[in-house]
Amino acid sequence: MHKDCKEILVTGEQITKRCQELGAQISKDYEGKEVILVGLLKGSVPFLAELSKYITIDVYFDYMDVSSYDGATSTGNIVVETDLKQSVRGKHILIVEDILDTGRTLATIVPYIRERGAASVEIVTMLFKPERLERSIEAKYIGFNVPNAFVIGFGLDYDQKYRNLPYVGILKEECYQ
Ligand code: IMP
Repeated sequence: MHKDCKEILVTGEQITKRCQELGAQISKDYEGKEVILVGLLKGSVPFLAELSKYITIDVYFDYMDVSSYDGATSTGNIVVETDLKQSVRGKHILIVEDILDTGRTLATIVPYIRERGAASVEIVTMLFKPERLERSIEAKYIGFNVPNAFVIGFGLDYDQKYRNLPYVGILKEECYQ
């Protein structure tokens, strides 16, 4: 375990197993539909890579880079840094997110994609912090519920660090205080 990590919450093996289950469900739900997986950079990349291995229908990849976070607290300011490269008109969009926290990011992105004529817009998130949710945003697919703690690993960072950890863990308080 990394020295800055207090506790492992979800192991890499648990993430793989959950991705197999979610991939099977998504493949069933979207059978016969044109699907774009929209990964939110940068945190969703490891989860998108793992999950997509277990999706057996044809899907396209696209990415958005939306910044909202400064260190360990949400600023609530959402800026689209990198936009989608392909048209979403008539397509079924599955937004792939690392963590659904306050819901501010997704509350901005979902209408943004809907307004561009997507046939449907849903969310798959690796983690969900139910205690922190502020907006009426619902993820159709959730990997794991996590407690209200600052988590790192499997894509999640603190000041751009720890994204490469092969598990999700709680960051020691002394690392951000
Ligand atoms: P929201 O808009 O508050 O739902 O925040 C979503 C984004 O905040 C995520 O995509 C993460 O990048 C970041 N975030 C929220 N909670 C954590 C955390 O515990 N660790 C690392 N990043 C987090």
